[in-house]
Amino acid sequence: MSVIPFSQALRERTRSSHGDSAGATFMSDLMTGKGSRDDYIALVAQHYYIYEALEAAALRFADDAVASPFISPQLTRLPALELDLDYLVGPDWRDAHPPVPATTRYVDRITEVADEGWAGGFVAHHYTRYLGDLSGGQAIAKIMQRQFGFETNGVAFYIFDQIASPKEFKETYRDQLDSVEWDAAERERVIDEVLLAYTFNTDLFIDLAAAKAAA
Ligand code: HEM
Repeated sequence: MSVIPFSQALRERTRSSHGDSAGATFMSDLMTGKGSRDDYIALVAQHYYIYEALEAAALRFADDAVASPFISPQLTRLPALELDLDYLVGPDWRDAHPPVPATTRYVDRITEVADEGWAGGFVAHHYTRYLGDLSGGQAIAKIMQRQFGFETNGVAFYIFDQIASPKEFKETYRDQLDSVEWDAAERERVIDEVLLAYTFNTDLFIDLAAAKAAA
């Protein structure tokens, strides 16, 4: 019998894909001062479409026994993204920033998982985004604030003002992952879905870099 908690297995099995996402040139340029304010804005807009799908899916799973313990209003990001885009671009931000192909694939997959009612798949997407926002996202926000002179406007997405301790929140989240009664096959499927979610995030950075090069 394996004694490794699921949350730990998940983290270990996805570590290299996490590295691919975090290390994508578009992202690492932003983190090292080689990216522009417009690059950052382009990313915020793509986040909007992704969270629109994710948070619509959360409504779909609100009463699901497996998924609902993960869903919390403290996490909801769409209003913050709206505020950021309004501040950074203005109300017509969608015209300048339609979804790139990777975002469309990402959104379609989240919607498909929700339509199927697959709780494990939803949790996979929920985990990949929100635990990331509560982890590396906190460092990203600080660097964007420093680089582009933002206070809270423009980086509201990263500020979870209803979560006092991201560290404790993540610990509770991992306990919840460990307590779901998924069998080994379902755990594999969930890990595969997280790997897929990382691929979408990496592809998103590739698409944003390509759009920038073409501009
Ligand atoms: C510059 C970009 C990034 C940096 C610097 C970064 C950094 C980190 C760090 C340091 C952790 C570990 C925190 C901890 O142990 O509590 C972490 C965890 C995580 N990151 Fe990232 N990250 C980046 C991008 C991303 C992206 C693009 C995603 C996917 C959307 C992502 C998803 C996650 C997830 C899901 C975790 C939690 C892993 C776990 O504990 O199970 N990260 N990140």
